[in-house]
This record gives sequence, C-alpha cells and structure tokens, in this order.
Amino acid sequence: MVVPGTLPSGGFLYWVGVLSAVYITVRATYRLLAGLRVWVLGSPVVLGPGLGAWAVVTGATDGIGKAYAEQLAKHGMNVALISRSQEKLEEVASEIKEKFKVETKIIAADFGEREDIYSRIKAGLESLEIGVLVNNVGMSYAYPEYFLDVPDLDNTINKMININIMSVCKVMTVFSLPFRSTGVILNISSGAGMYPSPLLTLYSATKVCFLFGMLQSELSNRNVTIKSILPYFVATKMSKIRKPTFDKPSPETYVRAALGTIGLQSQTNGCLPHAILGWILSLLPTSAVINLTMQKHKQLRARYLKKVKEN
Ligand SMILES: NC(=O)c1ccc[n+]([C@@H]2O[C@H](COP(=O)([O-])OP(=O)(O)OC[C@H]3O[C@@H](n4cnc5c(N)ncnc54)[C@H](OP(=O)(O)O)[C@@H]3O)[C@@H](O)[C@H]2O)c1
Repeated sequence: MVVPGTLPSGGFLYWVGVLSAVYITVRATYRLLAGLRVWVLGSPVVLGPGLGAWAVVTGATDGIGKAYAEQLAKHGMNVALISRSQEKLEEVASEIKEKFKVETKIIAADFGEREDIYSRIKAGLESLEIGVLVNNVGMSYAYPEYFLDVPDLDNTINKMININIMSVCKVMTVFSLPFRSTGVILNISSGAGMYPSPLLTLYSATKVCFLFGMLQSELSNRNVTIKSILPYFVATKMSKIRKPTFDKPSPETYVRAALGTIGLQSQTNGCLPHAILGWILSLLPTSAVINLTMQKHKQLRARYLKKVKEN
C-alpha cells in the first residue's frame, strides 16, 4: 500500500539512482575539467629569478633532485645544491654552471647524521635571495620488508626520521629566515604517503604530508606557494628502475611535468600517468588499496630476496 505523500519503494530507488548518477557525473566532470586545466593549460606561475634569484634543492646530486636543480637552472635561477658527497656536488654544480650559465653553490651535508648540520646550512644560505625551495632528500628501505625484520632496524628508524622528517622541518626554518613574501616551496613526498603502505611502513609514515597543508594556511597572507609532490615510481637509483617507461618516467620527464602543476594544486602526483593511478586508487576503498599494496610489495620483496640468494 502506498501512503499518501510518500514515494512507492520503486520510485524511491529510482530517485536514489538518479541522484547517484548526477553526483557521479558532476564529480567526474569536475575531475576531468580540473585535469584538463592542470595537464593541458599548465602552471600560471612564472618560474625564474622573478621569484628570487636562488633555488635550493636538497638531495640534488641524483634522480629527482638533480632534475629539479637542472630545470630550475634552465629557467634562469641560480641553484644551491645540498647533498652528501662533496665530489658529486662539485661535479653536478660544474655541469649545471656550464650548461645553463647560472651561479651555483654547494653544501655537503648528511641529513642522516645527528650532528648539527643545520647551522652550517643556515650559514651557507643566509645571504641568498631564495625563491624556490625543493625539499627533496629522502630515504626508503632497500626493499619492502616486514617492520620488525628491516635490517639494522634501530639505525634505519633514526636515519629515516632524520632524513624524511627532520630535514623537511629544519630546512623550512632556514628558508623562512630571509622571511620572504613570495616564493615556492616544493616538498617531495611519495604516493606511499597517501595510504598506509604495508612492508614500507616507516617510509610511508614519514612521507605523510604532515606539514604543508597547515603551513599553506598559516602563510595565506603571503604570496608563498607550498606544494606536496607525491610520485609513484620514477626511474632513479632509489627505485632501482633503470629503464624509464610511460608510467615509470625518467626524473627529467617527471620533474618537467610536476613543475607545470605549480600554483594549480596544493598536492599532486606530479605527472599524468601518476595522476591517473592516483585517481583510480581514490575510487577504491582504503582497505582495497592497502591490500593491493601489500600484494605488490610481497612480490617485490620475494624478487629482491631471490636475487640476493642467487648472487
Ligand atoms: N624514485 C621514486 O620512485 C620515488 C617515488 C616516490 C617518492 N620519491 C621521493 O623522491 C625523492 C628523491 O628520490 P630519488 O628517487 O630521486 O632518489 P635518488 O635517486 O636515490 O637520489 C637521492 C639524492 O639524495 C641524496 N641523499 C641521499 N641520502 C642523503 C643524505 N643522508 N644526506 C644528504 N643527501 C642525501 C643523494 O645523494 P648521494 O648521491 O650522495 O646518495 C641523491 O642526490 C625522495 O624524497 C623520495 O622519497 C621517489
């Protein structure tokens, strides 16, 4: 029996269906338009000395950090490179100087050590007009492993927190010293920080974008852009991927794409294939993403351990 003023159950389900379809269509259209704006139109921010003469990049002698240093130099910025090895720093700095005709500065510092490297970094950067800071240095496990079985666990915990968290907080304070009103701060986080990543537990936890959303709100009265970059696999020494592919790009391809997103999203997966993967994962329940990650990491772990056994 139909009670006056109410819909029959078929009618109710019909309207639930219609509203769901409208909701999904509006969301999909919004995502599509937002995607077109980012991946087709590109960044409204003009990178270059207009932001400040210098770019500072941590972990700048290889992979993604080196690609940022090169791309920012290509845009006419002088670059301050901070990394572990003096020799590699000198080599990369002279390559950049010669190729892009900009000034360079190097600071050798091991972010994994307890010694107070930050007063040295502060002294080295104090006089520079910094327009872009790339918090890139990072450390992951040698291979996916169960937390308590991670080799040299105590040391790994200390180093990973020092490199992935401490460096980000401390270098930020150095950047704020000249207290600039404009600038771009890029934090190279990881897709592994978007969801809990079993077998990369500590890495995943240290890559959660804990600081940046909050800082962006605090600095909203200034023209400072703060952005978290969350890559999936990029072909670098850390990922142990030698041959770039469409979905595992070279650091150069990745960074070119990621620079094009500045000023458009506070958080990005950085390049189109990674954004598509991020979008697909966002449609799944978190438990399914965790499950898929676990399966993938178990495979990588087995492959790594097999290789070690064979050698
Ligand atoms: N590659 C990926 O698939 C991927 C995916 C997601 C997120 N990320 C993130 O992207 C960032 C860069 O990774 P990457 O793949 O480009 O790494 P990479 O190729 O291994 O390069 C790391 C850079 O950091 C420097 N570095 C390492 N440990 C250091 C320390 N303790 N102190 C000072 N400098 C140090 C290295 O210098 P040396 O040459 O002296 O070692 C090198 O210049 C990291 O934060 C990582 O978590 C990477």
